[in-house]
Amino acid sequence: MRRTIAITMKSKILLILSVLLLVSLGLNHLGLLFWGWSFVFIVLLGIAFYDITQKKRTILRNFPVLGHFRFLLEMVRPEIQQYFIESDISGQPISRIYRSVVYQKAKNELETVPFGSELDLYADDYKWVNHSAFPLHIDKDTEFRIKIGNAACSKPYHASLLNISAMSYGALSTAAVTSLGNGAKMGGFYHNTGEGGLSPYHLKTGADLVWQLGTGYFGARDSKGNFDSELFKNKVAEHEQIKMIEIKISQGAKPGHGGMLPAEKVNEEIAKIRHVPVGKTVLSPPGHSAFSNPLGLCEFIQKLRELSGGLPVGFKLCIGRREEFIEICQAMKQTQIYPDFITIDGGEGGTGAAPFDFINFVGSPLKDALYFVDNILKQFDVRQNIKIIASGKVFTGFNLFEKLAMGADLCNSARGMMLALGCIQSYRCNSNMCPTGIATNNPSLVSGINIADKSVRVFNYHTRTMESLVELLGAAGLTKPEDVQAKHISCRYQGRAVTLEELFHNPG
Ligand SMILES: Cc1cc2nc3c(=O)[nH]c(=O)nc-3n(C[C@H](O)[C@H](O)[C@H](O)COP(=O)(O)O)c2cc1C
Ligand code: SF4
Repeated sequence: MRRTIAITMKSKILLILSVLLLVSLGLNHLGLLFWGWSFVFIVLLGIAFYDITQKKRTILRNFPVLGHFRFLLEMVRPEIQQYFIESDISGQPISRIYRSVVYQKAKNELETVPFGSELDLYADDYKWVNHSAFPLHIDKDTEFRIKIGNAACSKPYHASLLNISAMSYGALSTAAVTSLGNGAKMGGFYHNTGEGGLSPYHLKTGADLVWQLGTGYFGARDSKGNFDSELFKNKVAEHEQIKMIEIKISQGAKPGHGGMLPAEKVNEEIAKIRHVPVGKTVLSPPGHSAFSNPLGLCEFIQKLRELSGGLPVGFKLCIGRREEFIEICQAMKQTQIYPDFITIDGGEGGTGAAPFDFINFVGSPLKDALYFVDNILKQFDVRQNIKIIASGKVFTGFNLFEKLAMGADLCNSARGMMLALGCIQSYRCNSNMCPTGIATNNPSLVSGINIADKSVRVFNYHTRTMESLVELLGAAGLTKPEDVQAKHISCRYQGRAVTLEELFHNPG
């Protein structure tokens, strides 16, 4: 919010200065030098008077007129940083080399790299594939699919290895949701609705959908905000496109933090999609009202399975207190109710908006969480019932490969897909001023998106990334994703080269 106001104010200053310059140049051009400079002088005097008398900004009171340059420079700082200062590998959260590779794949452009690696191969945490001396050739069009659905599930789903992670309509624009859905439909991968519910834009593309239910149960709630079984059942029955149900416990960017949709954003369309009153602020509480403990979670999974007519049901979480995850496994054993999948979101995950402390300091990063979850599920002897989906900075074939090595069965990507749509990492998702029309509902910005073109880019990005994975599998001498193990990736740890297997078993 502060940033929005700051930008607006700075834009006004920029506009005033430009007008001043133009007027004075115009007057000077007409040979009216005296009038030209007098005009500029009078306006600057006016600004100085305003600066001295205003009481909000010390810098302007102390440095009238000149102080505005600070705001001007602050305004263009992110662009200067990104275009001139940041190196190819230093930018955060997604460095230039990763952004470029997504853009290239999305545009179907040449993506070979000349001369040599820009990465520091001797830096801690650098990872590489342990390739085979006897690589295999796998046809790059080979399509691997992962079956999701255990014995209790009557309608298992065969998912692609890379899919679109949860992002709600509302956080993303109509054009962005439509383009993502079209891309998913073309490429045969799924599109997660995000907790904002099933929107007409998700549905009309015909893509396979994962309906996510967050704590607000949007689209399947009663007037008090509690889960409404009948509504849920009817909607699932109505839309064959819904292939899986995901209960969102938490997400990496803000685990344990609820959400709020301000009243001004709750127009008739959003109200209809979410089943909330028009023009009233909507709260997503931090926790679920349908269950409050591990046994309750298992029972809710079973309930959704029955209401959905046997679709795969799972939950998404960012790992926090480890003993709680162990208790969830105990509850699974006790009830014999197993989720069909668990989505693990790393603390490095993205969001439209989250508080500073949550985005930076709450929740386990993906690597640690994946290994932990895979291991605990094996210890409880329940791993065979549950697929693990990983999300957190999966942009390339290698990122997919390394997540498989860490214990995942398949992956989701949110920001990779946004980059494929044309996101330029301008950090304005929380201001409704997304310059690329992706994370905004401002019609003039959204209209800039060419849906037909962006749909193909999402499809290309997925196809080319899967091709990279296939090539990496072949290079490692493996024939299928299920064969990838922790020993197939090495990592530099405290200066030494260790396989992930050694690292996980003997971290000291
Ligand atoms: C704009 C945006 C909106 C998101 N909305 C949701 C959401 O509704 N539900 C959810 O579980 N995660 C949400 N996420 C998190 C992503 O689904 C994903 O878990 C996270 O960003 C990590 O993946 P990434 O590194 O590929 O972005 C959102 C992320 C972004 C960037
Ligand atoms: S371009 Fe900027 S505002 Fe738009 S989605 Fe990307 S980071 Fe967010």
